[in-house]
Amino acid sequence: MLILGISCFYHDSAAVLLKDGELVAAAAEERFSRKKHDFDFPSLAIDFCLKTTGITAADLDYVAFYEKPVVKFERILTSTLSSFPQSWKTFGESMIAWWGGKLWMKNIIMEKTGVPPEKIIFVDHHMSHAASTFFASPYEDAAILTIDGVGEWTTASMGYGKASWEDGNINEIKLTHEQRFPHSLGLLYSTFTAFLGFRVNNGEYKLMGMSPYGDPNYVDDIYKMVKVFDDGSFWLDMSYFSYHYSPDRSFSKKFTDLFGKPRIHEEEFLTSRVDSNVDPNSPKAKENQHYADIAASIQYVTEEIILRMARNVQRKTGSKNLCYAGGVALNSKANGHILAETPFEQMFIQPAAGDSGGALGAALYVYHILLSKPRRFIQEHNYWGSSYSNAEVMEAVKASGFSFEEVDDEELLIQKAVDDIIAGKVIAWFQGRFEWGPRALGNRSIMADPRTKEMKGIVNSKIKFREPFRPFAPVILEEDTLRFFPDLKDVKKHYPPRFMLSVYPYDEKEGKKVPAVNHMGTGRLQTVRRDWNPRYYRLVELFKQATGVPVLLNTSFNLRGEPIVNTPTDALSTFSNSGIDTLFLENILVRK
Ligand SMILES: [Fe+2]
Repeated sequence: MLILGISCFYHDSAAVLLKDGELVAAAAEERFSRKKHDFDFPSLAIDFCLKTTGITAADLDYVAFYEKPVVKFERILTSTLSSFPQSWKTFGESMIAWWGGKLWMKNIIMEKTGVPPEKIIFVDHHMSHAASTFFASPYEDAAILTIDGVGEWTTASMGYGKASWEDGNINEIKLTHEQRFPHSLGLLYSTFTAFLGFRVNNGEYKLMGMSPYGDPNYVDDIYKMVKVFDDGSFWLDMSYFSYHYSPDRSFSKKFTDLFGKPRIHEEEFLTSRVDSNVDPNSPKAKENQHYADIAASIQYVTEEIILRMARNVQRKTGSKNLCYAGGVALNSKANGHILAETPFEQMFIQPAAGDSGGALGAALYVYHILLSKPRRFIQEHNYWGSSYSNAEVMEAVKASGFSFEEVDDEELLIQKAVDDIIAGKVIAWFQGRFEWGPRALGNRSIMADPRTKEMKGIVNSKIKFREPFRPFAPVILEEDTLRFFPDLKDVKKHYPPRFMLSVYPYDEKEGKKVPAVNHMGTGRLQTVRRDWNPRYYRLVELFKQATGVPVLLNTSFNLRGEPIVNTPTDALSTFSNSGIDTLFLENILVRK
């Protein structure tokens, strides 16, 4: 049984392939097309899925699409008409896009893949998110929470899932409560993202990274536009917003009357908390502190709403297990609070929590719910992208003209990487299949020594060319996690830290040992276990043996504004265009 899952035409497009209920390939289109957040039809990702499995589209039993285009069109039509004439511009643009193609999704899939119409199935957007987390989790029963910007009409849903690995068992997902457009937590957060000078659907991480530098002094002001109820449902006063009728502005004049002028796009962000040399009384530092305080306030309100929703779905279902997905589930700072501040004991978050993950959820929904097949799969790791043979790597390296050394002894190769890291060099680490979802987890990563504060600046300015206030993440040996992150008890049973999906506070003393990955006392950690990625594990382990510190700095292997590298040629190009000192490309060591 072969099921292809597809998501596209809104946020990140992606394709996945399930074979007899097991995930065999999954990738976002941007990795192949090299267009960041590419939302076009995922032809290249589909080709990769088919090629990896050794099949053609004619072998597919079903193609599952991650939302219902007609229902979504109805929402866009209804909401733009209800805010006419303000929405005339959005209305015109939407009509062209929808009548020109999106509405005829079945035809597009048939045309692009050659699959007949009876094999194409459309799954509701939030049901796709729900299935992407529940059927990838290890739980037989769980409460389910999905929160994003918007799907068809739904912006958040909650319910439960039941399914086991036994044949003949009934699989079930019921989404019992929902929040509807335009009342959307994802769009509320994105509105503040835009106000704070970052790009929507791209800069939400930057807002989150800015928030620890501020104090939540504007929470009461935010509650003027958001009324939150005990169960986590909420109502937005739409007079503060314009995203429901404007294609290029998400906040209204009433919003700026309350919070002042928007931050200039990508302007330098410096306060005395970011850099102690900055005079806190200078007009620019004061202005930036105001923006940081707004970031802290919207982060606070977001966490409050998520926690109320989580407590409510726990109460309603009685389950101790939570499965969570949707773009808001990438808010790793909020995620770090869920287990501590709700009665949930275990949690699984789909690492491709955003719309790319809908491709996986749609395919899992068809297999388990529509076809009633028993479960076969737990998403224990996240390496589902393409890989490259030694011959392919060698060909790319020779074509690049860089000097290189082939090191067949893996232990020796890893030791050379550790020696470079300890010598203060920044290395790129490329091995095996690339990661599913937005995080690099050791197969397409840039690595460095976390023990000096300066290393953050070095990686930020020479390699990533990005804002100095943004944090870098630690990768830590799973068995050493408790020592550095004392709140993370029983780490072995937690999934979010292995996918770098949650932020936790450091132990004060241990956290001082890794200043380059310590963001105002917290870290968005990745835990690594030998079983999941032996070579990457060994890299951290050898660093620990040499230094006593079981932690490395890990950041994604890409330049600012580019997707994470896919091929050896992408890796060599990024290596060449950055300050990376050494590139470890499978078993080949490339130096400048
Ligand atoms: Fe979504």
